[in-house]
Amino acid sequence: MTDLAYVNGTILPVAEATISIEDRGFLFGDGVYEVIRCYRGVPFLLDEHLARLATSLAAIRLELPFDIGDLAAIFGDLLARSQEKEAVLYLQITRGVAPRNHLFPASPRPTVIATVRPAEPPTPDERAHGIRLITVDDARWGRCDVKTTNLLANVLAKQAAHEKGGQEALLVDEAGFITEGGVSNFFAVVDRTIITHPKSVHILPGITRDFAIELAGGLDIAVDERKVGLDEAVRWDEAFVTGTTKEVLPVVRIDDQRIGDGRPGPVAGELASAFQQAVDAAVKERA
Ligand code: PDD
Repeated sequence: MTDLAYVNGTILPVAEATISIEDRGFLFGDGVYEVIRCYRGVPFLLDEHLARLATSLAAIRLELPFDIGDLAAIFGDLLARSQEKEAVLYLQITRGVAPRNHLFPASPRPTVIATVRPAEPPTPDERAHGIRLITVDDARWGRCDVKTTNLLANVLAKQAAHEKGGQEALLVDEAGFITEGGVSNFFAVVDRTIITHPKSVHILPGITRDFAIELAGGLDIAVDERKVGLDEAVRWDEAFVTGTTKEVLPVVRIDDQRIGDGRPGPVAGELASAFQQAVDAAVKERA
């Protein structure tokens, strides 16, 4: 199927979709975004993504001229037209087109774009054998909790990780604490307790992070939301990352250090299975 885009009310092939060179998303990264995974045609955790989008919009002081819930219909149209079942919806909203000036335009008309594309889920090898993370200094700004399109630090981190043979970057702050991944949240596991950075301005409040924590409750897995030091890694039984595109994915190596016994651990396995069961249940409910 052709990859489709929605641009301010019109659906067309991605290759034909354009925006102005004076769009503030392009000039300043003055915009926010969401990435939503669709399983068998059903957007997963859509309400949660829309709620976070509302928070991001409020944080950058951008008001939509329509109800945020109307976006669900746009996604529905895109999915119906594309016929893509295993898809990723990308949504970006910017402060619109205006002559370049850092100050907000007097009456901004937000640019709303969305695309639907085939999902690129973790490979069977990544799921079965886990992935390697490469540590990178966390050089991002002070509002990592806002899902803005200012992703240059993440882009550089992911590229550096890739060039060093890793599948994901692991961002580490000046004090040696792990904040999160380049496009994912990070969890260490010790004695059936999953440990992850608390919600703050230093991490994105991942939808999959919260969902994994909820799943842990039903599996008798304890949760400890605290700062995790990279120097603690020798004591971890296992580790994993979560994210819309990564789901729950085991981590078996950080730089040249083996995590646990170097194989995916049982806690990550239980959470990954529970995640897939929840996906199946969500799809069945919508069928
Ligand atoms: N990124 N942390 C960062 C920095 C992220 O960019 C993402 C997701 C996550 C995981 O959040 P969620 O579970 O809500 O997907 C954590 C998306 C997928 C991206 O930029 O492509």
